[in-house]
Formats: sequence, C-alpha cells, structure tokens
Amino acid sequence: MRRPLVAGNWKMNGTCASVGELTLSLNEVALPESVDVVVLPPYIYIDRVVSVLANSLIGVGAQNCSVKPGFGALTGEISAAQLKDIGCDWVLVGHSERRIELGESDELVAEKVRVVLDSGLRPIICVGEELSERQSGRTLEIVKRQLDAVMRIVGVESLGEAVFAYEPVWAIGSGLSATPEQAQEVHAAIRARLAENSKELAEKARILYGGSVKPENALELFGMADIDGGLIGGASLKVNDFSAICRAAGN
Ligand code: 13P
Repeated sequence: MRRPLVAGNWKMNGTCASVGELTLSLNEVALPESVDVVVLPPYIYIDRVVSVLANSLIGVGAQNCSVKPGFGALTGEISAAQLKDIGCDWVLVGHSERRIELGESDELVAEKVRVVLDSGLRPIICVGEELSERQSGRTLEIVKRQLDAVMRIVGVESLGEAVFAYEPVWAIGSGLSATPEQAQEVHAAIRARLAENSKELAEKARILYGGSVKPENALELFGMADIDGGLIGGASLKVNDFSAICRAAGN
C-alpha cells in the first residue's frame, strides 16, 4: 500500500504578506495524518515557510534547483545543497513550464534528478504531454521518453526515493482536468515502464496526478488504482481547497 502524497506547487505566486498568511493558515488547518503533505514555495520564501512549519508535518521543497551540485561560481543559481541547508526535503524537477518555456531537455531534467538525490533530497519528477501530442496519439510515447531519460541517466537503483508526477500540459491551469480514466491509463503505463526496469521500484513508486485538481474532482482521481496523490497548482494557494484535496487523498 503506497502512502498518498499531495504537493502544492505555488509557482511564481505570492508576496511576503500572502505567503505569510497562507503558511500560517496551513499550520493551523487539520490535515489527514495518513497523507504526506508538501508545499513548494518560490525560492525566496522557502526559509520563512520552513520556519513557520517547523513543528508541523508538512514538508517543504523547491520548484527547481541548479544542475550544478554543491557550491560555487554560478551566478543566480540555487543548488540542491543550499536547499538542503535551509531545510528543504523535496525538489520538483522537470515541470512542463520549465521544459517548455525555459527549454529544459529530458537530459537536463535527468541530471537535475541525480543532483537532487545525491544531495540527500527527494525529487518529484514531472512528465506529461502537450495537447498536440495527445491529439496525435503520442501521449504514452512522450511520457516514456521523458521517463526513460531519467532511468538511463540516473539508474533505476537510485530512484527508490523519487516520486513521479503525471501532468498533462493541456490540463495545467486550464480548468480542464484529465478524466480519471485518461489519467489512470497514463499512470498505469508509467508504472509498467518502471516495472520493465525494476518491479520493486514500480510497486513502491508514488505517481501523482497534476492538472486542474480541485476539491470537486480530487476524490474521483485519487480513487484510481495507480494515482497515489496529486501535484496541485492553483488550488494549493487556497488553504480550504488544498486541505480538502489532502482529505480526499486520505479517503
Ligand atoms: P493547476 O493545478 O493550476 O492546473 O497546476 C498544476 C501544476 O502545474 C502543478 O505543478
């Protein structure tokens, strides 16, 4: 039985005031103990979120990290070692907004996964197809290609702590979620691909669904056999919606 995980990706949202308010509310709201809950604030707010949530069970992570490990001369970058230093547990890697808008390749994403793991942090690795790829029947091919790069470059034996997230690009921020059946088909394919390389990893790995998850559709999505939780964007900025989604994952 895999323990559900719900992660809130705050993206490039928030101010000191709104992040402070959201974090205080999260610290007070009742969340199910049977679910791992993680928030991913913008880099500049991580420190304060870690402080406020220090005595809670909510984990904190970053939305990205540098591909360069350790410390050194790389202006403007933040390393996994620094994220670990300020109390992060998790790093999101390969979000489609970075793949598409910032040109992150499958190989770069895989290298980042390796750096995250080597730094003692846990990656949440995003995969997913664009609308045109789905429309041309290439969804599983795309997702396998993204996954294979990670397995090839990092090695399955090193991926025991990794979490995977399927996020169809067309469902992100569009209000148009994949149906539970559409999501389940891809989640099952991801697990099958993992199983071809490691049955143990496939059995253990949590695969989250992301893309317009809301309190209204969370229960049905999380009820599917291979969906082990969610990666939540917009709804993670509203404490009532996020906590309702967390409760749905615990049911
Ligand atoms: P939305 O929940 O806003 O669709 O975003 C999903 C997402 O991209 C989470 O990483």
